[in-house]
Amino acid sequence: MDDARDVRHRDHQNWQGCVGSVPLIRAIVRPVGDPRMYGELAAWFHLVTAPADYADEAAEIVRLLGDHGVLLGPTNPDASVLELGSGGGNMASHLKARAHLTLTDIAPAMLALSATLNPECEHIEGDMRTP
Ligand SMILES: C[S@@+](CC[C@H](N)C(=O)[O-])C[C@H]1O[C@@H](n2cnc3c(N)ncnc32)[C@H](O)[C@@H]1O
Repeated sequence: MDDARDVRHRDHQNWQGCVGSVPLIRAIVRPVGDPRMYGELAAWFHLVTAPADYADEAAEIVRLLGDHGVLLGPTNPDASVLELGSGGGNMASHLKARAHLTLTDIAPAMLALSATLNPECEHIEGDMRTP
């Protein structure tokens, strides 16, 4: 386990601009790049990046897939989507009514969090780099 000085030093290197002096607060402010956000702090993920924040991104994915002939929605009820690095399931929460989703992530804590939001979706632990 890190001692407090190591954590402060590492955070000082990782975070440009911080709020407060507590490493936990810094981690919440800027989760990307900090693996703790996907492990010991995973339960906080939806407070940092909420499902509602992904509505526009999900709509853009639906549009882009549609542009390539992949329709998600009632006109294609058999559509299935594999999401790699599905995290807290925020994106999935907007897409799951349109397709059968398989959600995969390397972090068990994130899969568990996503399962609270998307219990009807299939969740599989895995590394997207695995051939
Ligand atoms: C920013 S989060 C994704 C958030 C997600 N788009 C959502 O809607 O909630 C990034 C996720 O990628 C996962 N990840 C990082 N490297 C991975 C890898 N090699 N294979 C699978 N998942 C990975 C992390 O565990 C983390 O949950």
